[in-house]
Amino acid sequence: MLSIQFRNVIIILLIINFNVVYSQQLGSDVALNTTINEESRYRPNFHFTPLKSWMNDPNGMYFYKGKYHLFFQHYPEGNTWGPMHWGHAVTKDLYNWEHKPIAIYPDEKGFIFSGSAVVDSENTSGFAKNGEVPIIAMFTYHDADAEKEGLETFQSQAIAYSLDEGETWVKYKNNPVINNPGIRDFRDPKIQWDNIHHQWIMVLSAKNKTLFYSSKNLKDWKLVSEFGKEAGAHGGVWECPDFFPIRVEGSKETKWVLIQSLNPGAFNSGSGTQYFVGDFDGKKFTPVASQKELPENHSYWLDFGKDNYAGVTWSNTNLPENKRLFIGWMSNWQYAEKVPTRGWRSSMTIPRELSLVKKSDNTYRLFSEPAKQIDGISKLIYSKITINKSPGSKMVLANSTEVEMDKLRLKLQLPVLEKANYTFNLSNEKGDSLKFGYSFHENRFFIDRSDSGKIDFSESFAENISFAPRSASDNLIEVEILLDKTSIELFYDNGETVMTEIFFPNSSMSKLDLSSSINHFKIKDFKIYELQLN
Ligand code: FRU
Repeated sequence: MLSIQFRNVIIILLIINFNVVYSQQLGSDVALNTTINEESRYRPNFHFTPLKSWMNDPNGMYFYKGKYHLFFQHYPEGNTWGPMHWGHAVTKDLYNWEHKPIAIYPDEKGFIFSGSAVVDSENTSGFAKNGEVPIIAMFTYHDADAEKEGLETFQSQAIAYSLDEGETWVKYKNNPVINNPGIRDFRDPKIQWDNIHHQWIMVLSAKNKTLFYSSKNLKDWKLVSEFGKEAGAHGGVWECPDFFPIRVEGSKETKWVLIQSLNPGAFNSGSGTQYFVGDFDGKKFTPVASQKELPENHSYWLDFGKDNYAGVTWSNTNLPENKRLFIGWMSNWQYAEKVPTRGWRSSMTIPRELSLVKKSDNTYRLFSEPAKQIDGISKLIYSKITINKSPGSKMVLANSTEVEMDKLRLKLQLPVLEKANYTFNLSNEKGDSLKFGYSFHENRFFIDRSDSGKIDFSESFAENISFAPRSASDNLIEVEILLDKTSIELFYDNGETVMTEIFFPNSSMSKLDLSSSINHFKIKDFKIYELQLN
């Protein structure tokens, strides 16, 4: 028998122990909740993000059997860049994503850098043995050990194939398929079926130029030409090219577009994506007359904002010949590894439709607009044909009591009037404010995120206001604004000029207002939508 005293001691000990366990449990729950809150705080509502850890460039995108596949540069073990894998996700509607297991792992030949994928319907590669349709991915092997040893030849091109629609991948036994010729930056193969010359073509970035290769079987590649040493912006290394034919809007003419990212050296500093328009004879790309000697400070940028990089287009879509489906990485190498998200880092832009427009001065401009699937998730909250702006006070366009400001799609038209500056201000109760708009005097758009919340994680994040020259000349500016928790995507003049930037407010944004330097003006075709995902 235990003495009463001893029994009490045991009971007290049990209670203490229970409390310790209980409070430990409570403590870890609190910690868990904090982690979950921290993790979800800046996670976008309608933009693609990795489930966890680091992500950069979109890779290997193709459409097959009703599904859009997206692969991406991924380091699953950490929240900054590391040994690269290809992450994988699929979507049917471009907004609701299903996360898949990692598709391609690094191996003894190196990390798996950026690249592309195509559906080889005719089995030109011969990888299919039982009537399957092979999907061929081409990527850059980055041999980090060889780089450390001081070799220049540490990047080469390799392929992998999938016989189950992209679920699992086998690396080709004779990799690499293109050896390094002695160029340090030699990467990011983008393949395209050339239906005009009946061949596969592949573009590759090589330091300060684009290399063009052709192939009949996706395994043997022949270098056929190069472009760009003296064309366009060269403030940094050329990376992540894309090259495709596209029908000019409203015409029977077909042109070829070369998309070429570079880092640094973008229009507003850091990473950015320029484009060239021209003709292709099956071997050589020749830019159109208006782009013949394109200077360093040209205005042919796919996006003028600081956060749309390494973007490329999907292969094998069923879009008409005048459209291409595009997605970009919504960050900038200047600060990508420092942005204040926890547990994951980086998101993609929304998928966009590219089109090519020939202007009255014979220049060609690449337009980008939200892919039309956005209509399927847009719920109209408010619309008005004309709004007369009266003098004085700012005009509140949207407010969190009516619509969530981080799932917002807003459209309107603004008149181009003598001396008219327009400033939109997205703000919250904490005093954070993101400003953007248009100035008549300079005929340009701007984004100013210097007061937008957390900015001091990197000096380059908000040191300058970003600008974009307006190239349209109509006297109405079409404005489309997409707002998520941490990003703004601005499509002006039906996508002729685009600006994409990220921001990290101290609390949710709750109001969008508009002010102007002129007293009276009319806003036309005003529409507010809330974006609603399943
Ligand atoms: C572009 C890039 C590519 C490279 C990849 C590595 O952001 O530098 O050139 O393949 O990222 O992750």
